[in-house]
Amino acid sequence: MSADAQKRRAAAAALDHVSNGMTLGIGSGSTAKHLVDLLGEKVRAGLTVRGIPTSEETRRLATEAGIELVEPDEMTRIDLVIDGADEVDPDLNLIKGGGGAHLREKIIAAAGARMIVIADKSKKVAQLGKFPLPVEIERFSWPLTVQAIRKALAANGLKSASLKLRPGSREAGGGVYLTDSNNYIVDIQCTRIDDAAALDASLRAIPGVIETGLFIGIASLAIFGTDRGVETLG
Ligand code: 5RP
Repeated sequence: MSADAQKRRAAAAALDHVSNGMTLGIGSGSTAKHLVDLLGEKVRAGLTVRGIPTSEETRRLATEAGIELVEPDEMTRIDLVIDGADEVDPDLNLIKGGGGAHLREKIIAAAGARMIVIADKSKKVAQLGKFPLPVEIERFSWPLTVQAIRKALAANGLKSASLKLRPGSREAGGGVYLTDSNNYIVDIQCTRIDDAAALDASLRAIPGVIETGLFIGIASLAIFGTDRGVETLG
């Protein structure tokens, strides 16, 4: 079975946690795309939910699927957030942001009463760090921020980590990748992160850093699609 089919299985299983009247944070990426698709089917069959999209792409997909959306400046309780991840460790700490949406994803996930991660089983790891850690940074004087990030990495035992300013896609005209909030992303190849909470705190203390892709202690359940069905963690 393909990873994509596993993603769809995970998304379908997460919908068992959705009930009438809920306000849902809706993640971004290819797994979240399956979620939007399947949620749209349920909405058309009569389920009443409101969604808060975590990216412009998810907003577009959810609108097309007929899901009622909450405006970002509307104050509301978020009952449940369902989102993908790039890595999930045994304590449900995550690396996110492979799709560049982790700032909005983290705002919504942190505000949600509960977060469920949906992923194919390759995302389940013993330790975070193989997937490059995305860090969203302010564009102004970005080389100074990158320099400060290097110092923070060294202070966290990650002196040999390599940093790369994320390039823009060919469809977007190349150049440097811009997030939905018009910031840059630095991808940090760490190989292994021994203390994710300490690294997150050090990086977030740098003035030009807007948000890291480390989600520490936010998710309460992960659902992994496998060839045989789903596996859960949490
Ligand atoms: C986007 C994300 C995605 O959830 C993450 O990159 C996983 O993506 P996919 O579901 O395509 O594997 O964090 O910012």
